[in-house]
Amino acid sequence: MNLLRSLVPPALRPVARRARAVLRGLAPVHHAGPFPPADLRAAVRPVRALPPLEAGRAFEVALSVTNHSPRAVGPNGPCPVGVRLAWRSYAGEPVAAADGFAPLPRPLWPGEELARRFTFPAPAALGDYRATFALAQKGGPDFEPVGPPAVLDLAVSHPLDGGFNYHDIYGRADLNRDFWTASGPPSRAEFERLAPVKLQLLTDRGLTPDGRILDVGCGTGLLATAAERFLSDRGAYFGTDLAPEAVAFCKGRYRRPNFRFAVNGMTTVPVRGERFDAITFFSVFTHTYPDETALLLAEAARLLAPGGFVFADAFTSPLVQRHAGSRYAVEVNREALLRLAGLSGLTAERVVDSPWNGPARREFFAFRRG
Ligand SMILES: C[S@@+](CC[C@H](N)C(=O)[O-])C[C@H]1O[C@@H](n2cnc3c(N)ncnc32)[C@H](O)[C@@H]1O
Repeated sequence: MNLLRSLVPPALRPVARRARAVLRGLAPVHHAGPFPPADLRAAVRPVRALPPLEAGRAFEVALSVTNHSPRAVGPNGPCPVGVRLAWRSYAGEPVAAADGFAPLPRPLWPGEELARRFTFPAPAALGDYRATFALAQKGGPDFEPVGPPAVLDLAVSHPLDGGFNYHDIYGRADLNRDFWTASGPPSRAEFERLAPVKLQLLTDRGLTPDGRILDVGCGTGLLATAAERFLSDRGAYFGTDLAPEAVAFCKGRYRRPNFRFAVNGMTTVPVRGERFDAITFFSVFTHTYPDETALLLAEAARLLAPGGFVFADAFTSPLVQRHAGSRYAVEVNREALLRLAGLSGLTAERVVDSPWNGPARREFFAFRRG
């Protein structure tokens, strides 16, 4: 072969090399069965980092792949060669997401490098993942990596981002006709069923009819509905919400003199000189990012009466390092959330834990001082 090569005049050698590459690309490389693993080596390198992926959707990743094996490998036959993607959590733990496999687009000869975009499905569960890419034969082991393994830290977020915000939701709703759907419950019956359930979570922690409730993110008054019947004239209810439409609706609907409503900022509650026995954030931290949640918890700590408690739910996931998802549904890391509460001197007791989405849970916490 070398003798043949040396017969080619130097001026024609680049042309001969190109012709050889074309002929190799055309030659079928058919893998009828698994290779002996011993001599399979390859280098895989990500060409660039990726923005957050959309949960459950296909995504493309640009990779450079070099075949360091003594044999040609390719995408044909029952045991094709391609890039395998293995998912781990950000902490390196195994996860439920299945490995991905994308066949090579064409044969790759010994020593040859190829740069291409490969397509894989993203995991269905939101989170912060560590993805490792390796050349592999389908159903067989990974090729031994030459150089560092190809690892990318990939955030998986929510596909329903689309600028979700409550101003738009309440703005579009006709609250005189349907005041429940905009704040969550799919029917009036469900809105009314949930009202005493949420109140009970507070009375179980010691709220009495003479108690003072601050309901941040009151929506269209799910808790107010139950509190209207429960609180005595000595008790008090203060509902605040980001959405002026929801606050205007509540002012018109819940008319007892000890019931008040006000618009609040994303991270500020417009109350001074008062303290509350129960401060609630029902389905609020499910829409706020950790820094906002921390500031709202600081507001709650400022307004909490001695012996009082803060009650809040959040979507938590062990796959999430800090937060994942969009305002539509924010998932957080439980320990990170509890650390943020600790910054305001609040310690948490988990009260309810229910399934949410994949490994994510919906957890309800009662926070107290100390
Ligand atoms: C899913 S609804 C829940 C309403 C009510 N708490 C309930 O349990 O039915 C979420 C509410 O939180 C409000 N919200 C979201 N972020 C907020 C924030 N930073 N401060 C106050 N309200 C907020 C929204 O406008 C919306 O009314």
